Amino acid sequence: MKDFKVKDESLAAQGRMQIEWASKHMPVLNQIKKRFAEEKPLKGVTIGACLHVTKETAVLIEALMAGGAEVALCGSNPLSTQDDVAAALAMEGVSVYAWRGETADEYYWCIERTIDHKPTITLDDGADLVSTLHSKRTEFLSNVKGGTEETTTGVLRLRAMERAGALKYAIIAVNDAHTKYLFDNRYGTGQSTIDGILRATNILLAGKNFVVCGYGWCGRGVAMRAKGMGANVIITEVNPLRALEAVMDGYRVMSMNEVAEIGDIFVTTTGNINVIRKEHMQKMKDGALLANSGHFNVEINLKDLEELAVSKRTIRPNLEEVTLKDGRKLYLLAEGRLVNLAAAEGHPSEVMDMSFSNQALSVEYIVKNERMPPRVYPVPREIDESVAKLKLEAMGIRIDNLTEEQKKYLTAWEMGTI
Ligand SMILES: NC(=O)c1ccc[n+]([C@@H]2O[C@H](COP(=O)([O-])OP(=O)(O)OC[C@H]3O[C@@H](n4cnc5c(N)ncnc54)[C@H](O)[C@@H]3O)[C@@H](O)[C@H]2O)c1
Repeated sequence: MKDFKVKDESLAAQGRMQIEWASKHMPVLNQIKKRFAEEKPLKGVTIGACLHVTKETAVLIEALMAGGAEVALCGSNPLSTQDDVAAALAMEGVSVYAWRGETADEYYWCIERTIDHKPTITLDDGADLVSTLHSKRTEFLSNVKGGTEETTTGVLRLRAMERAGALKYAIIAVNDAHTKYLFDNRYGTGQSTIDGILRATNILLAGKNFVVCGYGWCGRGVAMRAKGMGANVIITEVNPLRALEAVMDGYRVMSMNEVAEIGDIFVTTTGNINVIRKEHMQKMKDGALLANSGHFNVEINLKDLEELAVSKRTIRPNLEEVTLKDGRKLYLLAEGRLVNLAAAEGHPSEVMDMSFSNQALSVEYIVKNERMPPRVYPVPREIDESVAKLKLEAMGIRIDNLTEEQKKYLTAWEMGTI
């Protein structure tokens, strides 16, 4: 069944060039694509994917199709679809249902159209497709052999489903591969979040009080890059170990209540709900910027902001000015959705090369193996290591191998102080 719904098919040529540009920077995935084209390991597989529809995702989709899969694709966020890329994929025979600026209803409509293709494997980013399959479209559950999940928030949701006994098929947590979260969440989110803030505002970061809420993998990356731009970075945390790490990394750590008064820019990267709330907004400086880079648009309490507002206007794309009753103005970026995808282009291709290589190899793993019991699984270590190895090779970097003597030494207890 070939079918699609995108914003504008005439953007396909532009989208094709974007995909080619991304592909040039994704050597590992290209190597996998070449092997897939020869071996066709995904023949007969129907993939239902709910991913940010970006140029990098297009390179992944093409690799899966080269392996023989049929693919239906929808966006994993109403604001992250690159319409030219969606058009190019549709012209290539992918059943794409995605456009930038979907309403919540349209967003779920696209997920359901993807499920209509009766996927045998699902690829998710945030677990909205999996949860729709498990709640509204249970008739298709038995077709599915397994799936993958791209992000921290999705893995948390799937683990909750597993604990509740609700998960009906096996999922590989791509997010938890070392070659994913150590690079994508940190260097990808770090750079692209700054990119999103700059595209939306074009402000100078140097000298600003830049507040990062959450010092996890994404928060570390955003903090590192903001510091590099000369900002005074301040961290908020709920986990004492992470807070201590931030202190030792040289950042100030404060409570949200304290920092609310002095922050110029606030970025949430917690994966948690209502991290910035009314009591904080009431204290913020005139002109403070609010952005989110966590998966869902729940980290900044938008209802609270709405209640405090007397008027709103759009100043530039992805920049909304909210005037409060006392005349102060706060600025909300990208409607509180992932600022790096909504206001910029998401992670650079080099980083997605690793994340999506894990995706492609995990799909192959699910296809080649017996049906696994319905649990959340780590990416097999050999896949993770092979992605790191291929990436280093592609970068022309050589590393050492353990000598036989060293291998023996590392597994023996006899030798101590000499
Ligand atoms: N923007 C992107 O492209 C992108 C990429 C990868 C992941 N993500 C998303 O970003 C979010 C964070 O991912 P991660 O991998 O960094 O997760 P993580 O678990 O490594 O880090 C989250 C951190 O937030 C802290 N936290 C939780 N509640 C908090 C609160 N109320 N105040 C302050 N800190 C709090 C936690 O203690 C933890 O240290 C998730 O939603 C994930 O899905 C986004």
